[in-house]
Amino acid sequence: MTRRRRIYEGKAKVLFEGPEPGTLVQYFKDDATAFNNQKKGIITGKGVLNNRISEYLMSRLSEIGVPTHFVRRLNMREQLVREVEIIPIELVVRNVAAGSLSKRFGIPEGTPLPRSIIEYYYKSDELNDPMVTEEHITAFGWAAPQDLDDMVALSLRVNDYLSGLFLGIGLRLVDFKLEFGRLWENEEMRIVLADEISPDNCRLWDIKTNEKLDKDRFRQDLGKVEEAYQEVARRLGILPEG
Ligand code: C5P
Repeated sequence: MTRRRRIYEGKAKVLFEGPEPGTLVQYFKDDATAFNNQKKGIITGKGVLNNRISEYLMSRLSEIGVPTHFVRRLNMREQLVREVEIIPIELVVRNVAAGSLSKRFGIPEGTPLPRSIIEYYYKSDELNDPMVTEEHITAFGWAAPQDLDDMVALSLRVNDYLSGLFLGIGLRLVDFKLEFGRLWENEEMRIVLADEISPDNCRLWDIKTNEKLDKDRFRQDLGKVEEAYQEVARRLGILPEG
């Protein structure tokens, strides 16, 4: 493979300059971090699995009309994506109480929520990704009101579609995090889904046993982390060979 210019290195991925203008290569690492970098580790094979899982989910979403940055998978650990301007907001959708929501409000993990809840977090390692409101987002200019409307509408479609998709393979989509970017085409701007969708940023529980098949196995030292990611890929019917 030719050497490419590194554009950005995150905790679990690296972005390289793409083969054509307006494209990037997204490389999936095995590195795992939790609790804002306080816990670090390696989940062997995670990058390969997340590359494949995210390819599958982004492709299905694109088929139902959700615009995404994903173009195509290039190899085991890399995918070609459109270059977008990342909006510095993490949008979390929750269907069942877990994680920081359970902690913050004292709601037992596993309590179904009466309706899906959307939360926003400002992407900033130094500030520990603080939770923010629509007011902060628009007042500080991180996203325009119309951008935010588009992000919410897309997130709810993603939630409906993925909840059904995962239910079909015996998994409950408890919550997940999405990131969006601005994509310019012929002087027009569209908000598109960016980053990845994988067990790194979703909570997925087995419907029957409530077994966790996501990054909480790493966060909570539950063991069998790689096996859990593999099980998600297996149920999706996309377990990579070898
Ligand atoms: O920790 P918390 O309960 O707020 O996480 C909600 C969801 O968002 C989980 O699925 C988690 O994996 C995801 N998340 C993420 N990246 C973050 C924070 C949360 O992918 N920085």
